[in-house]
Amino acid sequence: MTTAAVSTFQAPKGTYDLLPPDSALYLAVREAIAAPARRAGYGYVETPGFENVELFSRGVGESTDIVTKEMFTLTTKGGTQLALRPEGTASVLRAALQANLHKTGNLPVKLWYSGSYYRYERPQAGRYRHFSQVGAEAIGAEDPLLDAELIILAVDAYRSLGLRDFRLLLNSLGDGECRPAYRAALQDFLRGLDLDEDTRRRIEINPLRVLDDKRESVQRQLTGVPLIADHLCEGCKAYHEQVRELLTEAGVAFENDPKLVRGLDYYTRTTFEFVHDGLGSQSAVGGGGRYDGLSEMIGGPSLPSVGWALGVDRTVLALRAEGVELDLPAATSVYAVPLGEEARRTLFTVVTELRRAGVAADMAFGGKGMKNAMKSANRSGARFALVAGERDLAEGVVQLKDLESGEQGPVVLGEIVATVKERLV
Ligand code: HAM
Repeated sequence: MTTAAVSTFQAPKGTYDLLPPDSALYLAVREAIAAPARRAGYGYVETPGFENVELFSRGVGESTDIVTKEMFTLTTKGGTQLALRPEGTASVLRAALQANLHKTGNLPVKLWYSGSYYRYERPQAGRYRHFSQVGAEAIGAEDPLLDAELIILAVDAYRSLGLRDFRLLLNSLGDGECRPAYRAALQDFLRGLDLDEDTRRRIEINPLRVLDDKRESVQRQLTGVPLIADHLCEGCKAYHEQVRELLTEAGVAFENDPKLVRGLDYYTRTTFEFVHDGLGSQSAVGGGGRYDGLSEMIGGPSLPSVGWALGVDRTVLALRAEGVELDLPAATSVYAVPLGEEARRTLFTVVTELRRAGVAADMAFGGKGMKNAMKSANRSGARFALVAGERDLAEGVVQLKDLESGEQGPVVLGEIVATVKERLV
């Protein structure tokens, strides 16, 4: 058997590694997206990275690209068919149902999550096979205030990051009362067009998806296509109007997009997508909507719900496209530079004390010389360096150097923690 040299391994196609210093930005983005949801009563949920494949085929939809082309599936030794999760909503609802959260009499169940998702897509800028989402779901209540709440939370998350060039596209996909008649009217129209075999098949299985076809040859023929907005029943119309009013009152601008259908089949009524104009073809930075029928589709009771997921990767790309620099706190506040073996021991103790007192501290390891160690201190972004040699230790002091001003002075060993804390404020 031949073994490949270890150095030749690469991350699989369509995946990436997150490494410092960029990784700090990803953490900050996840945190910023989650913060508004946490403040609004959403509790953290974590589900497995894989699920029974049927959860997604039934939940996301047999005819969607995600299920037919993009799932990473595997069969266990016991013969169970699993899939790496392509999205979070079906899993979160499955978890809530399994734990009977919906029976506590405290609806809606509000949950947020953050994690990795997997889709076997053709990789390109902003589209990966392993990507990261933060999501929020409100399970078990039909209330336009809840749809508006979620959309406002997402807008507030983007705004807190300093993003400006994003737009909110809004639509209603109707419900069990009005969608069937609309679907039939749409099919009638589409069957009269000049379309290829695949698209003709799609008309019969999932005609709404044809509206989303990006090809010019298709879009050109869609002039005059029946739009769901003109087919909504009174209930859906009134619901949608309320959501729109609530958003307007909250100062959230939106664009009505009657062709917005989204790539997952579980949506009913409110659907929305956030797009960013600096991202090229993969412009959707987040999306979501109401999914009143999903619970029943996966074997649960009727539980009208609404939620969203925002893409962390694309949000980072959007920040870069707008040139937004986040004010990230330096990972290290104090960097210790020991000169000699005794100083290594002493400063190791000081660094431990600083950390225990809540100060981010690091030191030069591996017996680095003064010059190299100072270079590391500067590179760490630390505000202060603690330098100590034999003579300092003999006097019971270390040198505290302000790396911003260059000022330096001795501090008595027992007073370092207090002095540093005082000067860091
Ligand atoms: P989605 O629109 O499929 O919705 O994904 C949400 C976001 O995840 C997208 O807007 C995009 O930013 C990001 N994303 C999706 N695929 C990729 C990819 N291959 N590479 C990088 N980023 C990607 C959902 O997943 C629904 N579960 C949202 C939802 C929650 N609906 C109701 N509740």
